[in-house]
Amino acid sequence: MSGPVQETTGVAIVGAGPAGLTLGHILAQAGVPFRILEATTREHLLGRVRAGVLEQGTVDLLASLGLDDDLRRRGLTHHGIYLQYEGERHHLDFPELVGRTVTVYGQQALVAHLLAEHERAGSDIVFEAADVQVRGVTGSSPGVRYRDDRGEVELACDVVIGADGYHGVCRRSLPPSEQVTWERTYPYAWLGILAEVEPSTDDLVYALHREGFAMHSMRSRQVSRLYLQVAPDESIDDWSDARIWDALQTRLGVDGWTLAEGPITEKSITPMRSFVASTLAHGRLFLAGDAGHIVPPTGAKGLNSAIADVALLGQALLDERAGDPTGLARYSDQALSRQWKVQQFSQWMTEMLHVHHDEPDASARGFRYRSQVGQLEYVTRSLAARQSLAEQYAGLPFRE
Ligand code: FAD
Ligand code: DHB
Repeated sequence: MSGPVQETTGVAIVGAGPAGLTLGHILAQAGVPFRILEATTREHLLGRVRAGVLEQGTVDLLASLGLDDDLRRRGLTHHGIYLQYEGERHHLDFPELVGRTVTVYGQQALVAHLLAEHERAGSDIVFEAADVQVRGVTGSSPGVRYRDDRGEVELACDVVIGADGYHGVCRRSLPPSEQVTWERTYPYAWLGILAEVEPSTDDLVYALHREGFAMHSMRSRQVSRLYLQVAPDESIDDWSDARIWDALQTRLGVDGWTLAEGPITEKSITPMRSFVASTLAHGRLFLAGDAGHIVPPTGAKGLNSAIADVALLGQALLDERAGDPTGLARYSDQALSRQWKVQQFSQWMTEMLHVHHDEPDASARGFRYRSQVGQLEYVTRSLAARQSLAEQYAGLPFRE
């Protein structure tokens, strides 16, 4: 019986999400050989909806790689957000507050574009790579073992990148003695929909309502993206289209404004979690994106954090090849230093805007809700508070 197929590359990237695909482009443009191993099919990858807001730094990185033409064509530049509470909507003007904007451009479109550009460049991407195992990253011969349609493959490489998301294998391949993880879950989830209807707002609306959080986002001038706070154990089958629109109308409603409804083409429920691993480095294995940290979606930081990681990591890998290993040695600390600020912001936005139905009694629930309204009044009225929110929402620098 013949053994595994033996192959060699420079960088083995596990996962073809935004982190893995973007890192692949950074390496491709510098002529560094790499292979991306993706567990799912191309169709599955292209079908996932997920995030929608790109920070200025993310847009700038994609532009520096020449990957922004679709984004320039179809992305929507947004000049701020609305915060809504007690039936009133308040605009935060980002250019006025911090001189920056954000771009609404779906993760689905971004992944499609990054993948199309890889295919045009002839990149080495393996779909349906099964049973990926990280090997020898603390020794002299790192590699990855997996199965594809040829059978077992032993891929030798210089470095392994774990860009395989929260449920991936790379983080789990660290010995427990080498890593601590910090995690919290929230007593609510997001029900998200895509609807074929022109958005009823220019900028995104984040609303605290007594019945729960709601948000109005968009994907294009013809497609709206909306979210509702629901209980974490709720089934999507209990949410008919009519019930969803009803809840959105109630929670997003303000006098003199109407929310236009249209056919719902996608709906799903996402749990909310904060999670950080204590290290993103283990020998020649480096973690990036959701593999190393997760935020609750309020504030739109998940995708942007993945891109911030690979901006640092990509440069560090190129520097090492040019003889300077310091960036790679510092990668984990640098990325986590930014990440903890992002964690704090995401948790703060989440707790300020969601209703805490889990508080033990009506008095505690009332106290919590009223203090959130107090906080929102402060944020919308204080210039310093508006600037702080805008600075973090538009995105902290990738490198301090
Ligand atoms: P991922 O996009 O998760 O990519 C990881 C890839 O690795 C996947 O393609 C996966 O199939 C692959 N993989 C996993 N295991 C293996 C393995 N063993 N072998 C090979 N490949 C593997 N963020 C926001 O900011 N706003 C949102 O509204 C929002 N909504 C979300 C909804 C959902 C359902 C989820 C799961 C996330 C959402 N996020 C949102 C977060 C955001 O989408 C992520 O932060 C972002 O996708 C991170 O990119 P990534 O490349 O690190 O990981
Ligand atoms: C979207 C998602 C977010 O988490 C967010 O804060 C803003 C927008 C979106 O999917 O459009």
